[in-house]
Amino acid sequence: MTALVVVSHSDPDSLTQHVARATADAIRATGGEVDIADLGVENFDPRFSEADLDLFRGNGSAPADVVAEQKRIDRAEHLILVFPMYWWSMPALLKGWIDRVFVSGWAYEFTPGSEFVKKLDRLTVHLIPVAGDDAESFERHGVYEAFRTQIERGIVEYCGATMGSTTFVHESDTKSRDTLAAEIRDLSESIAARVAGLASAVAR
Ligand SMILES: Cc1cc2nc3c(=O)[nH]c(=O)nc-3n(C[C@H](O)[C@H](O)[C@H](O)COP(=O)(O)O)c2cc1C
Repeated sequence: MTALVVVSHSDPDSLTQHVARATADAIRATGGEVDIADLGVENFDPRFSEADLDLFRGNGSAPADVVAEQKRIDRAEHLILVFPMYWWSMPALLKGWIDRVFVSGWAYEFTPGSEFVKKLDRLTVHLIPVAGDDAESFERHGVYEAFRTQIERGIVEYCGATMGSTTFVHESDTKSRDTLAAEIRDLSESIAARVAGLASAVAR
């Protein structure tokens, strides 16, 4: 599989879901193989359970639902996360997916006294956050910088994956449908080109 699109939004008619479908369609149009993981529809449980904690502490093994997600990511070269910005970050459902799935032993190897090993170096990650606010406000409040620190560096690069691109959709609740449609077409084609190996620069 070329790409796995992970989407976190409870409304199938939302802009976020539309962006996820458009991106998957654009990748298919370039001949890529793509799977969509709709975390809400699939009822992924984002709660960090006792079993997850045991694993983090070096005991037991990963729960079956976590292993299933890891296998799905293992089949992809590109991981594309599509989500609405909630409180300058990602929704709890997606954050819980990362907390539970990107664990020691699979995403990285941390053993006290040994060298830290990043294990996702075969994966390229693309982020598509959909935000109600505008770009000027994000810049002024340092949201882009926070996003780079917490998500690009703190999660993606921490595990050794390559940051492919981050493309914000801004003013999601206020821009005209036509403007948003044009933006979504451009961003989905741009990501599809990157996934197909036709472009490499990081967009913002
Ligand atoms: C709980 C919650 C928190 C939100 N926090 C932010 C935020 O921090 N920054 C922002 O720009 N928009 C924020 N929004 C607005 C959403 O990002 C926006 O409504 C969404 O992107 C619209 O796309 P959708 O149709 O896919 O839901 C928030 C919305 C909700 C429901």
